[in-house]
Amino acid sequence: MKRIKLGVNIDHVATVRNARGDNYPDPLRAALLAQKSGADSITIHLREDRRHIIDKDLELIKSRLRIPLNLEIAATKEMLDIALKNIPDFICIVPEKREEITTEGGLNLNYKKNFLKKMILKLKENGSRVSLFIEPNLKDVEMAHYLNADCIELHTGRFCNLVNNKRNFKKELVKIKRSVILGNKIGLEVHAGHGLNYKTAKMLSKIDLIKEFNIGHFLIGESIFIGLPNCIKNFKKVLR
Ligand code: PXP
Repeated sequence: MKRIKLGVNIDHVATVRNARGDNYPDPLRAALLAQKSGADSITIHLREDRRHIIDKDLELIKSRLRIPLNLEIAATKEMLDIALKNIPDFICIVPEKREEITTEGGLNLNYKKNFLKKMILKLKENGSRVSLFIEPNLKDVEMAHYLNADCIELHTGRFCNLVNNKRNFKKELVKIKRSVILGNKIGLEVHAGHGLNYKTAKMLSKIDLIKEFNIGHFLIGESIFIGLPNCIKNFKKVLR
């Protein structure tokens, strides 16, 4: 039976910590509890403005975690150097705008194409698996392959918004399905993430060949009410 992996994004534990400038809740504690509760990997996004995860979190989590650490970074020289130094198991390159609330769309793969290609090569040679966070469209899937990424993570934000607002999501679902099929056909491992809750994760888990889901905001929010271990267990049931 296929088993979809669950990556738990703990950025918003750091958001709550930073809101008071204190040292709790501790993202390392959350990462270790998520590991104990069955997460397959832990995701952290080190943003240029350090609004949630900070460099010290990366070092601590990397040194203590036994499951893979997935580091999300922008395509910049600063982040490349940090990733080369820390060697996370997985890296997902994401777009980043200072003024955005969250990662609003997939990477523009044509912008900085040459830099991206070199960055991916260096990271792979350094021992990290490299994924690109892209919109679910065939052009970007092909470009990710050309750039030599190991994986793609399809941005599911638009799909989730349509479902949550009870709007017609069929076209977006078709785009996701087609991207999954093409990605697998050309040898990319396909992941999905952004905006997922129980309902939308369940819907997308029915698409064969999505290997991994990365879930953060809803999961951390729901954990306030039912606890992180219970929420991870619920998601693992959903993704079974
Ligand atoms: N995947 C990527 C590449 C992301 O940037 C994010 C948001 O940080 C997520 C997944 C998780 O999205 P959410 O927090 O909405 O579950």
